[in-house]
Amino acid sequence: MIKLIQHPLIECKLSIMRNKNSTDLEFRTCLDEIASLMTVEALKDLETVQTREIETPTGAKVMKTKLAKEIILAPVLRAGVGMVEGVRRMVPKARVGYIGMYRNEETLQPVEYYFKLPNIKDATVVILDPMLATGGSIAMAIDDVRKHGYTNIRCICLIAAPEGKKFVEERYPDIDVYVAAMDERLNEVGYILPGLGDAGDRIFGTK
Ligand code: PRP
Ligand code: URA
Repeated sequence: MIKLIQHPLIECKLSIMRNKNSTDLEFRTCLDEIASLMTVEALKDLETVQTREIETPTGAKVMKTKLAKEIILAPVLRAGVGMVEGVRRMVPKARVGYIGMYRNEETLQPVEYYFKLPNIKDATVVILDPMLATGGSIAMAIDDVRKHGYTNIRCICLIAAPEGKKFVEERYPDIDVYVAAMDERLNEVGYILPGLGDAGDRIFGTK
């Protein structure tokens, strides 16, 4: 299910990312900061456990609390890499694996070239990819993660198109996909409108 995270700080930072005149540095900084802000909401249902008693400076006793399960961040290369540090700022002990894929520019079908996640099957896997356009890439990423035996999966994206939302919701009614904006549509070459252009190129300055 697509879950929209709305926050004034995210809106301001996203508008900087959408501006074609923003620099690569501004683009990366805003993506990184939005990823941190989204993490708070996207992980708010995580279970915690209390491990041992600790003492506060007042002499009072409280329990130390930690996450019940490990977190694995799974950025989809390349653009998902731009979200990793922002999420990890909030979850410093998260492990990181990579899912390598690109969209064939003519067919818009994803092509996978790499998959490596830490081997902790009961971890919560958080797939990261800023752009959910047709939904093909995130679907292939979810299928791969499942195929490798992970069952607890959620996704954090930045912008979704209605086409991708429909595709993902029909195919994965049990998986939460957090987004910061629902845009209007795809254009004739599969880019999100109004969108922000090619996320990977803007993060890495490849165009
Ligand atoms: C972009 C984006 C997603 C995909 C979304 O990656 O980061 O992975 O397109 O499109 P979809 O929903 O239609 O599958 P791209 O293929 O441009 O690769 P890159 O990150 O290496 O530039
Ligand atoms: N990938 C991008 O980077 N941008 C889009 O608008 C669609 C797919």
